[in-house]
Amino acid sequence: MDSFRIVGPCRLEGSVEVSGAKNAMLPLMAATILTGGKCTLENVPELRDTTTMMRLLAVLGVPSTLEKGTLAADASEIKSFEAPYDLVRTMRASIYALGPLLAKFGKARVSMPGGCAWGPRPVDLHLQGLKALGADIRIDHGYIDASASRLRGAEIILSLPSVGATVNLMLAAVLAEGRTIIENAAREPEISALAAALNGAGAAISGEGTSRMEIEGVSAIRPFRVRVIPDRIEAGTFAAAAAITGGRVEINGCEPDHMHAVVERLEACGARVETGPGKMTVQGPGRIEPVNIETGFYPAFPTDMQAQMMAVLCRARGASSIMERVYSERFTHVPELKRLGAKIVLEGGVAVVTGVDSLQGAPVMATDIRASSALILAALAAEGETRILRIYHIDRGYERIEEKLRKLGASIERIAG
Ligand code: UD1
Repeated sequence: MDSFRIVGPCRLEGSVEVSGAKNAMLPLMAATILTGGKCTLENVPELRDTTTMMRLLAVLGVPSTLEKGTLAADASEIKSFEAPYDLVRTMRASIYALGPLLAKFGKARVSMPGGCAWGPRPVDLHLQGLKALGADIRIDHGYIDASASRLRGAEIILSLPSVGATVNLMLAAVLAEGRTIIENAAREPEISALAAALNGAGAAISGEGTSRMEIEGVSAIRPFRVRVIPDRIEAGTFAAAAAITGGRVEINGCEPDHMHAVVERLEACGARVETGPGKMTVQGPGRIEPVNIETGFYPAFPTDMQAQMMAVLCRARGASSIMERVYSERFTHVPELKRLGAKIVLEGGVAVVTGVDSLQGAPVMATDIRASSALILAALAAEGETRILRIYHIDRGYERIEEKLRKLGASIERIAG
């Protein structure tokens, strides 16, 4: 298993290019199932999750190629309707196959996702919503078995604005008969990007980016060519890296409009952030000010930036609190950050982080995508050598992160093994 060796402390300087967003790309790849034809996605990041989704599409009979960020997928001869356990367990977003298979072919069998490193991650809202659209759903030997003759539009009220459930329901409702209304829909930019791509291919979706989405079912979705939006979490991670190292980083190819909550908290920490069209420059503060953070659904502070901001606050001048409201148990990075000398106390879904003068390098273990990037940030600011094990997690969600950081002046190398 590969690991990273990072020697700190360093001060990041220079410019970096943001990749396409994993969480926007995965729904678009699943949407190809609806088209019965050849689709092209541009600005696709080369990640483990991209490969996993390509493998899943291949199992269904959708061959695809990825070359220099352009993914071509051919959905003209789908021959299987099953997403196997082996793929679903490595990437939960495999469940995105459920909605489009059901809508297009009237049947789907998708392995039931289990929990994940930071606790339970149910899919009940996906299933309730699909049932409301007329699907018959059974759980059989660990698989979700779904069938329907033709889905019918319905009014669905989500008890939480789940990103995944909103995606799956959109991918099903676009081909349903009649109108679907999703109340309390997720409002993430990745949802709006999916709606834009589907509308460009013949769908009739309105209200995306608000809590009430209306989808008028159509008889066909045409093959599409779309560009994946920039990854706001990757951009936020580089912004946090500038903050923790007291450096200055120009982040190109990002969408600052998608990042208001993160920019606002970074500024509260003392960072200076300048934004312009498609870019952002972050100047880290001399000393980081403590701040309180509460994660929430978009446009609130993203849970996917919680771990990285915790790393930043480990170096603050005083105590900060972090309340995790989306995944109350998403704190697996805490014991690892403590190994680097951080002072963090966890109590009832709240982490109290007391800043320390210096962090020290140590061997640590990555536990999930964002937890791993938090460890990289802390290691950049720590004295001496940090070894981060199990970096396959980071490869799921960050494209060539070590190259990008090295270009900014970090001492980071990948050690194969
Ligand atoms: C997506 C993102 C992930 C991010 C998360 C929250 C992708 C591929 N992944 O995950 O990076 O951390 O949004 O922003 O886009 N819930 C239920 N029942 C359900 C579904 C969700 O109770 O059927 C709950 C979850 O436990 C969680 C909350 O809803 O507390 C939000 O989850 P959700 O938005 O669905 O996250 P994902 O789509 O899995």
